[in-house]
Formats: sequence, C-alpha cells, structure tokens
Amino acid sequence: MFKGKTILTGVKPTGTPHLGNYLGAIKPAIELGKKAGKHYMFIADYHAINAEKDPAVLNQKLKEIACIYLAGGLNPEHSVFYRQSDIPEIPEITTILYAYTPKGFMNKAHAYKAAVDKNREAGKPDDDGINMGLYTYPTLMAADILTFNSDIVPVGKDQVQHVEIARDIAGAINAHYGKSLLHLPEYYIDEHVAVVPGIDGRKMSKSYGNVIPLFEDDKAIKKAIFSIKTDSRPMEEPKDPEGILVYEIYKSIATEEQLREMADGLHQGKLGYGHIKNMLLDAVVNEIKDAREKYNYYMAHYDEVEEMLAAGAAKARPVARETLERLKDAVFGR
Ligand code: TRP
Repeated sequence: MFKGKTILTGVKPTGTPHLGNYLGAIKPAIELGKKAGKHYMFIADYHAINAEKDPAVLNQKLKEIACIYLAGGLNPEHSVFYRQSDIPEIPEITTILYAYTPKGFMNKAHAYKAAVDKNREAGKPDDDGINMGLYTYPTLMAADILTFNSDIVPVGKDQVQHVEIARDIAGAINAHYGKSLLHLPEYYIDEHVAVVPGIDGRKMSKSYGNVIPLFEDDKAIKKAIFSIKTDSRPMEEPKDPEGILVYEIYKSIATEEQLREMADGLHQGKLGYGHIKNMLLDAVVNEIKDAREKYNYYMAHYDEVEEMLAAGAAKARPVARETLERLKDAVFGR
C-alpha cells in the first residue's frame, strides 16, 4: 500500500512527549515512513507560533521533538527531515492557495471552531485571542501537504478534515486551470495503533496529568507505574486480566508471549499488582533504553541535529521550488 508512495508526516513541537505519544504516534510514524517510497517528515514550527510566543520555549520544544524522532529511529538518509520554517516556498505557496480557499472552509475548521466554542463557554467574544494564524491554519497545512506532491498523509482522526481541505483546494485549482497542477493527497488513519491509557485509566495525556514519562530517569518512570490505579483484591483471587489497567497499558508494549504470561498469572492468582507493575516497568524501560540514550546524545550534540535539518531542507527545497514555479506559471500566466 505504501510502496513507491510519497508519505508526508507533520508534527507540531508541542512539548515533552510521553509514553503514549511515543507508542501511539511517534513510533508508528517512523515505521510508516520506512515503508514509503519517499518520506517527508517535518516539524511544523510556523503552526506552533500561533500558540507559542516565547522563542525560548518554542526552541526547546522543537529541539526535543527533533531529538525524539531521531532517537526513535527516524533515518534522515531515507526520510527528508526538515523544519517548516526553513522552506520559504511553503508560505509562498500558502499565499497562492489563499486565493482559492473559500473563507467558509476556515469557518468550519475544527481547531478554529473549538477556540470559538471555548470563548462562548467562557462568556467572551467569539474572536477573543484568535489570531489569523489559527484561523487560516488549514491553508498552511494544505500547502505543507501539496508542496511535496504527497500521496498519503498519516493523521489522527482530528486531522482528517484538514487533509480533505487540502484535497478540495487542490481540486479547485486543478479544475480552474484544467490541468493537474497539484497532486491530490489522501489521509491515512492507522487503525492498529493503540490508544495508550494513562495511569488513571483515561487516555494518556499531559492535560490529564496521567502520563508515564519517556525520557526521565527510571525512578520517575517507576513512580508513575506504581501509581497506576488498582483495586484491593488479593493476589490469590483469580482475575480476568481484561480491564486491569496495568494489563491494558502492557498491551501497547508487550510481546504476545509476555502478554500471555501476565494474563495467565492473573487468571491463576499467581501474580499480584506489585508483580505486574514490575513487569510493565521492565517492558517500558527495555523499550525506551536505546532511544533514551540516543535522545540524550542528540540533546547534548544538537549541532549534529541542526546539520541534519539543514541537509533535509536542502533536499526538500528543490521540490518545493518546482511546485511553486508550476503554480506561479499557471496563476500569473507566464
Ligand atoms: N496539524 C497537525 C497536528 O496538529 C500538524 C501538521 C501541520 C501536519 N502540517 C501538517 C500534519 C501536514 C500532516 C501534514 O498534528
């Protein structure tokens, strides 16, 4: 399905990822990229400035996200790895796309609508705190996608609408000029990717404060795992593993064999909550051991990462230039 295809993955630098992000988004994106004929992987820093106005914070987040992808196994030889703001053709293409983007599309976009709803709930004017960056977010995202002739854009469910907007804009431009100027992308939702529950049973999310950290020391990881919610049933009582939170989290990380071992132990009353928490801890530490080492290395040698990003931009720009020229030729009749 992905062989020979161009896959484009974008991530916002949103602050220190946790285990749920790593297993549910970062790892799968890297794996998918390996299957692509061509993989573009970029950090959406222009998108980030809509919300983050402190350059020091933004920079730190960008650094962390770049290092995490590399630590997780992104291969910059295979994947074109770049920072959005290093590709000036993207905002230029965005400007052209604006002329073909119905304002109504932006009114309907989820991120903007959610911001308006929040204002209404708080009794504030609709537009309070909403900048044009947020409002026109989907057009910039369309440019991200269309610039690189992407076939497939892997996204979470919340981003499907944005890929559809990109298709619609591209379709409108192609129809207007009667030729295929822009390649129509498709979204892809990976149904196999698990939603990792947090230590309180809700989806693992920084905003819920229920995360298992990724790149902190073993002690911090242990502390989080040992505070996973359990009940007071004694070890000897045979238990159905399904619904036991430690087991549910284990599912996203354990091999089938490991999972069966935990399930059997619970069924037979041979494993208590302390035991299974230790099993989970071992699995987590084992899973992230190499990545953590690499992460620390790249954070400490960030100049190497900068070089990789610069090399990525150098590979990406000629493609972006081509798309921009194709569009300019058409719209300005040159
Ligand atoms: N909007 C995406 C998110 O919030 C990030 C993103 C920006 C993106 N541009 C993109 C994703 C282009 C895929 C393709 O997660």
